[in-house]
Amino acid sequence: MAIDGPSGSGKSTIGRGVAAALGLDTLDTGAMYRAVTAAVLRAGVQPEDAEGAAAVAHRVELGVGDGVTTLDGEDVSAEIRSPAVTAAVSAVAAHPSVRTVLVARQRAWVDAHEGGVVEGRDIGSVVFPGAPVKVYLTASEAERARRRTLDEAAAQRDRTIEDVRTTMAARDAADSGRAASPLVTAPGALVVDTTDRTPADIVAEIVRAFRAAEGAT
Ligand code: DC
Repeated sequence: MAIDGPSGSGKSTIGRGVAAALGLDTLDTGAMYRAVTAAVLRAGVQPEDAEGAAAVAHRVELGVGDGVTTLDGEDVSAEIRSPAVTAAVSAVAAHPSVRTVLVARQRAWVDAHEGGVVEGRDIGSVVFPGAPVKVYLTASEAERARRRTLDEAAAQRDRTIEDVRTTMAARDAADSGRAASPLVTAPGALVVDTTDRTPADIVAEIVRAFRAAEGAT
Protein backbone atom coordinates (compact mmCIF):
# COMPACT_ATOMS: atom_id res chain seq x y z
CA MET A 1 0.00 0.00 0.00
CA ALA A 2 1.26 3.47 -0.92
CA ILE A 3 0.65 6.47 1.37
CA ASP A 4 1.74 9.92 0.21
CA GLY A 5 1.14 13.44 1.42
CA PRO A 6 2.83 16.60 2.65
CA SER A 7 4.54 17.14 5.98
CA GLY A 8 2.21 16.72 8.96
CA SER A 9 -0.61 15.15 6.94
CA GLY A 10 -0.56 12.06 9.19
CA LYS A 11 1.38 9.56 7.06
CA SER A 12 3.34 7.98 9.92
CA THR A 13 0.42 7.70 12.35
CA ILE A 14 -1.99 6.40 9.75
CA GLY A 15 0.62 4.17 8.12
CA ARG A 16 1.40 2.51 11.46
CA GLY A 17 -2.29 2.04 12.24
CA VAL A 18 -3.08 0.51 8.86
CA ALA A 19 -0.02 -1.75 9.01
CA ALA A 20 -1.00 -2.99 12.49
CA ALA A 21 -4.56 -3.67 11.35
CA LEU A 22 -3.42 -5.61 8.29
CA GLY A 23 -0.37 -7.32 9.83
CA LEU A 24 2.04 -5.59 7.44
CA ASP A 25 5.42 -3.91 7.93
CA THR A 26 5.92 -0.17 7.29
CA LEU A 27 8.62 1.67 5.38
CA ASP A 28 9.16 5.38 6.07
CA THR A 29 10.91 6.56 2.91
CA GLY A 30 11.25 10.10 4.29
CA ALA A 31 13.54 8.63 6.97
CA MET A 32 15.70 7.22 4.15
CA TYR A 33 16.06 10.65 2.48
CA ARG A 34 16.74 12.15 5.91
CA ALA A 35 19.43 9.55 6.72
CA VAL A 36 21.21 10.18 3.41
CA THR A 37 20.99 13.92 4.15
CA ALA A 38 22.56 13.37 7.59
CA ALA A 39 25.40 11.46 5.88
CA VAL A 40 25.80 14.22 3.26
CA LEU A 41 26.13 16.86 5.99
CA ARG A 42 28.55 14.70 8.00
CA ALA A 43 30.70 14.24 4.88
CA GLY A 44 30.85 18.00 4.35
CA VAL A 45 29.12 17.64 0.96
CA GLN A 46 26.85 20.50 -0.10
CA PRO A 47 23.17 19.38 -0.25
CA GLU A 48 22.95 21.03 -3.71
CA ASP A 49 25.87 18.91 -5.03
CA ALA A 50 24.05 16.17 -6.98
CA GLU A 51 27.12 14.09 -7.74
CA GLY A 52 28.47 14.31 -4.19
CA ALA A 53 25.09 13.49 -2.64
CA ALA A 54 24.55 10.52 -4.98
CA ALA A 55 28.01 9.16 -4.11
CA VAL A 56 27.09 9.34 -0.43
CA ALA A 57 23.73 7.63 -1.10
CA HIS A 58 25.52 4.78 -2.90
CA ARG A 59 28.07 4.39 -0.16
CA VAL A 60 25.95 4.33 2.99
CA GLU A 61 24.17 1.38 4.47
CA LEU A 62 20.70 2.36 5.67
CA GLY A 63 18.57 0.52 8.17
CA VAL A 64 14.92 1.47 8.48
CA GLY A 65 12.24 -0.22 10.51
CA ASP A 66 10.36 -0.18 13.80
CA GLY A 67 10.84 3.58 14.11
CA VAL A 68 14.64 3.21 14.28
CA THR A 69 16.86 4.50 11.48
CA THR A 70 20.51 3.48 11.24
CA LEU A 71 23.37 4.78 9.13
CA ASP A 72 26.19 2.27 8.71
CA GLY A 73 24.89 0.55 11.83
CA GLU A 74 24.67 3.72 13.98
CA ASP A 75 21.29 4.79 15.37
CA VAL A 76 20.56 8.20 13.80
CA SER A 77 16.83 8.34 14.65
CA ALA A 78 17.20 11.64 16.55
CA GLU A 79 19.77 13.21 14.21
CA ILE A 80 17.56 12.77 11.13
CA ARG A 81 14.87 14.97 12.77
CA SER A 82 17.35 17.74 13.62
CA PRO A 83 16.75 21.24 12.21
CA ALA A 84 19.93 20.95 10.10
CA VAL A 85 18.74 17.77 8.37
CA THR A 86 15.17 19.07 7.99
CA ALA A 87 16.50 22.24 6.34
CA ALA A 88 18.69 20.32 3.85
CA VAL A 89 16.59 17.25 3.01
CA SER A 90 14.50 18.80 0.22
CA ALA A 91 17.66 19.79 -1.69
CA VAL A 92 19.12 16.29 -1.36
CA ALA A 93 15.83 14.61 -2.29
CA ALA A 94 15.52 16.76 -5.43
CA HIS A 95 18.49 15.03 -7.14
CA PRO A 96 17.32 12.30 -9.57
CA SER A 97 20.62 10.45 -8.98
CA VAL A 98 19.89 10.22 -5.25
CA ARG A 99 16.29 9.15 -5.88
CA THR A 100 17.38 6.34 -8.22
CA VAL A 101 19.48 4.80 -5.45
CA LEU A 102 16.76 5.06 -2.80
CA VAL A 103 13.89 3.96 -5.05
CA ALA A 104 15.80 0.75 -5.87
CA ARG A 105 16.22 0.10 -2.13
CA GLN A 106 12.53 0.79 -1.49
CA ARG A 107 11.52 -1.73 -4.17
CA ALA A 108 13.97 -4.28 -2.75
CA TRP A 109 12.47 -3.74 0.73
CA VAL A 110 8.96 -4.48 -0.56
CA ASP A 111 10.17 -7.57 -2.42
CA ALA A 112 11.89 -8.85 0.73
CA HIS A 113 8.80 -8.13 2.90
CA GLU A 114 6.34 -9.42 0.28
CA GLY A 115 4.42 -6.15 0.46
CA GLY A 116 3.96 -3.59 3.19
CA VAL A 117 2.82 -0.06 3.88
CA VAL A 118 5.19 2.41 2.24
CA GLU A 119 4.89 6.12 2.95
CA GLY A 120 6.48 9.12 1.28
CA ARG A 121 5.89 11.65 -1.49
CA ASP A 122 6.13 9.68 -4.76
CA ILE A 123 5.19 6.16 -3.67
CA GLY A 124 1.87 5.88 -5.53
CA SER A 125 3.00 8.01 -8.47
CA VAL A 126 6.50 6.68 -9.20
CA VAL A 127 7.81 3.94 -6.89
CA PHE A 128 4.75 1.64 -6.85
CA PRO A 129 2.25 2.96 -9.41
CA GLY A 130 0.67 -0.52 -9.45
CA ALA A 131 0.02 -0.63 -5.68
CA PRO A 132 -3.42 -2.15 -4.99
CA VAL A 133 -4.34 0.81 -2.78
CA LYS A 134 -2.89 4.30 -3.02
CA VAL A 135 -3.73 6.88 -0.40
CA TYR A 136 -3.10 10.62 -0.50
CA LEU A 137 -3.39 12.30 2.89
CA THR A 138 -3.96 16.02 3.27
CA ALA A 139 -4.77 18.39 6.13
CA SER A 140 -5.08 22.14 6.47
CA GLU A 141 -1.79 24.00 6.71
CA ALA A 142 -2.73 25.26 10.19
CA GLU A 143 -3.41 21.74 11.46
CA ARG A 144 -0.23 20.34 9.91
CA ALA A 145 1.80 23.12 11.52
CA ARG A 146 0.10 22.41 14.86
CA ARG A 147 1.09 18.72 14.65
CA ARG A 148 4.69 19.51 13.66
CA THR A 149 4.96 22.00 16.55
CA LEU A 150 3.91 19.23 18.96
CA ASP A 151 6.61 16.97 17.44
CA GLU A 152 9.17 19.73 17.97
CA ALA A 153 8.10 20.21 21.59
CA ALA A 154 8.35 16.43 22.16
CA ALA A 155 11.94 16.65 20.88
CA GLN A 156 12.65 19.46 23.40
CA ARG A 157 12.76 22.12 20.70
CA ASP A 158 10.85 25.22 21.68
CA ARG A 159 9.58 26.72 18.40
CA THR A 160 6.61 28.93 17.69
CA ILE A 161 3.86 27.62 15.46
CA GLU A 162 4.48 30.53 13.06
CA ASP A 163 8.13 29.55 12.66
CA VAL A 164 7.22 25.88 12.12
CA ARG A 165 4.53 26.86 9.62
CA THR A 166 6.93 29.00 7.57
CA THR A 167 9.67 26.35 7.31
CA MET A 168 7.11 23.60 6.64
CA ALA A 169 5.49 25.59 3.83
CA ALA A 170 8.89 26.20 2.22
CA ARG A 171 9.76 22.47 2.34
CA ASP A 172 6.35 21.47 0.94
CA ALA A 173 6.73 23.99 -1.89
CA ALA A 174 10.16 22.55 -2.73
CA ASP A 175 8.89 18.95 -2.59
CA SER A 176 5.86 19.77 -4.78
CA GLY A 177 7.66 22.06 -7.21
CA ARG A 178 10.75 19.99 -8.04
CA ALA A 179 11.22 18.38 -11.46
CA ALA A 180 12.03 14.85 -10.23
CA SER A 181 9.10 12.91 -8.73
CA PRO A 182 7.31 15.87 -7.14
CA LEU A 183 4.62 15.36 -4.53
CA VAL A 184 1.42 14.80 -6.53
CA THR A 185 -1.86 12.95 -6.02
CA ALA A 186 -1.35 9.65 -7.86
CA PRO A 187 -4.05 8.69 -10.36
CA GLY A 188 -6.68 6.58 -8.61
CA ALA A 189 -5.53 7.56 -5.11
CA LEU A 190 -8.00 7.65 -2.24
CA VAL A 191 -7.74 11.25 -1.02
CA VAL A 192 -8.32 11.64 2.73
CA ASP A 193 -8.41 14.96 4.56
CA THR A 194 -7.18 14.18 8.09
CA THR A 195 -7.79 17.67 9.56
CA ASP A 196 -10.83 16.94 11.71
CA ARG A 197 -10.90 13.15 11.89
CA THR A 198 -9.53 10.65 14.38
CA PRO A 199 -6.72 8.31 13.31
CA ALA A 200 -8.93 5.30 14.16
CA ASP A 201 -11.65 6.51 11.79
CA ILE A 202 -9.18 7.11 8.96
CA VAL A 203 -7.41 3.78 9.49
CA ALA A 204 -10.79 2.02 9.31
CA GLU A 205 -11.61 3.75 6.00
CA ILE A 206 -8.28 2.75 4.46
CA VAL A 207 -8.51 -0.83 5.73
CA ARG A 208 -11.98 -1.05 4.12
CA ALA A 209 -10.53 0.21 0.83
CA PHE A 210 -7.74 -2.38 1.07
CA ARG A 211 -10.21 -5.21 1.72
CA ALA A 212 -12.38 -4.07 -1.17
CA ALA A 213 -9.35 -3.98 -3.50
CA GLU A 214 -8.34 -7.45 -2.31
CA GLY A 215 -11.86 -8.74 -2.96
CA ALA A 216 -11.82 -7.26 -6.45
CA THR A 217 -8.68 -9.16 -7.52
O1 DC B 1 8.23 12.64 5.38
P1 DC B 1 9.45 13.45 5.81
O2 DC B 1 9.13 14.85 6.21
O3 DC B 1 10.27 12.74 6.84
O4 DC B 1 10.35 13.53 4.48
C1 DC B 1 11.57 14.22 4.46
C2 DC B 1 11.85 14.76 3.07
O5 DC B 1 12.18 13.71 2.18
C3 DC B 1 10.72 15.55 2.43
O6 DC B 1 10.93 16.93 2.59
C4 DC B 1 10.77 15.16 0.99
C5 DC B 1 11.63 13.94 0.90
N1 DC B 1 10.93 12.75 0.46
C6 DC B 1 10.87 12.52 -0.89
O7 DC B 1 11.34 13.35 -1.67
N2 DC B 1 10.31 11.38 -1.35
C7 DC B 1 9.80 10.47 -0.52
N3 DC B 1 9.27 9.34 -1.02
C8 DC B 1 9.82 10.70 0.87
C9 DC B 1 10.39 11.87 1.34
